[in-house]
Amino acid sequence: MSITSLSIKKIRNLSEVAFTPAKRINIIHGANGSGKTSLLEAIHFLGLTRSFRTNQFRYLVTSAERESLVYSEVDSYSAGKSHPLGISRNLDGDVRIRYSGATLELSELASLLPLQVINTDTFELLEGSPAIRRQFIDWGAFHADQTFIMIWRSFKRVLQQRNSLLKCGKIDPTLRELWDKELVQYADQLTALRKAYIEVLIPDFDAILHRLNSDLDIRLSFAPGWDQKIPLDTLLNDNLQRDLKQGFTSAGPQRADLKVKVDGVSAAERLSRGQKKLVVSALKLAQGAVFHRMSQRPCIYLIDDLPSELDEQHCRLFCEFLEQTHNQCFITCVDPASLLGFWQPETEVACFHLDSGQLV
Ligand SMILES: Nc1ncnc2c1ncn2[C@@H]1O[C@H](COP(=O)(O)OP(=O)(O)OP(=O)(O)O)[C@@H](O)[C@H]1O
Ligand SMILES: [Mg+2]
Repeated sequence: MSITSLSIKKIRNLSEVAFTPAKRINIIHGANGSGKTSLLEAIHFLGLTRSFRTNQFRYLVTSAERESLVYSEVDSYSAGKSHPLGISRNLDGDVRIRYSGATLELSELASLLPLQVINTDTFELLEGSPAIRRQFIDWGAFHADQTFIMIWRSFKRVLQQRNSLLKCGKIDPTLRELWDKELVQYADQLTALRKAYIEVLIPDFDAILHRLNSDLDIRLSFAPGWDQKIPLDTLLNDNLQRDLKQGFTSAGPQRADLKVKVDGVSAAERLSRGQKKLVVSALKLAQGAVFHRMSQRPCIYLIDDLPSELDEQHCRLFCEFLEQTHNQCFITCVDPASLLGFWQPETEVACFHLDSGQLV
């Protein structure tokens, strides 16, 4: 998967920018406020019709404008043939996804353009709530197994229904038994898929982290959301009075988490900032590696300010790893000298300089 040409209109300070990215490594540099992160946001908009920095489109569209547009040529299946992909979105809420002459749904677009973002928000994978780590697991499980999305949606539906019954305060025992039976069935299926994905991910994560920093001994483990020694239906019964009082279901896959530990202690509490950056990057890079092995398709990596938090040696190791993957990378930095010396001569590296929203 790669973007072979890109044209951005009216995204933040990028009123009109067009360029031909390299298939492998693209370095975008420029001063603070020149538009580097905005350019990554534009690629994210191309893959998901929204930004990674804000949920509100009105902040993404250039001030005083009404519509953003990103047009590209993409080689989605790495078949050596590009097809046109264009996304437009306006302040009235209209979103148009056009691929090769047809209109696509958002979920079709998401599987067409698998994206991974590494930026300061990625630290949330360690420091944020379990919901962020569940999202991370579910990205992988979604791409790893076609049945995942149906099971995930069904589980959410049944859980919502059970929770609204709990909120009413009264729940008919026969009705509850029926809901619980369905809930347990989807919970077990969902948990099996998440567990299987994490089992596949761990060896890749270990190997990549070792490449980026061989001193760190990090253990990943999956916590399914309830004590696995007790069947979930027993737990649902045991917890009923508490759940009724709280108005929601306390045990199940909605509480699943990915534990990241170093010497048995939470990595969020123990690691330095730079070490955290390497760990969260290894998690994201491992997802790309697993995805590539399963689908034979690379991902697009959007890496905002790669050198920040890293010393020269770790920055070099990071670049050396990226160079050996199949992914197309868009990497931003303030000073290109911080990255340019790290690549092998045979690697396709393109360098773009942004100044006040213009490529120079
Ligand atoms: N909706 C908008 N319309 C116009 N300009 C905007 C909009 N939103 C943000 N900007 C401006 O766009 C410019 C580019 O921001 P961006 O975050 O992309 O810079 P950057 O190159 O990543 O800077 P840094 O090195 O500080 O991270 C900033 O000056 C910002 O104020
Ligand atoms: Mg920035």
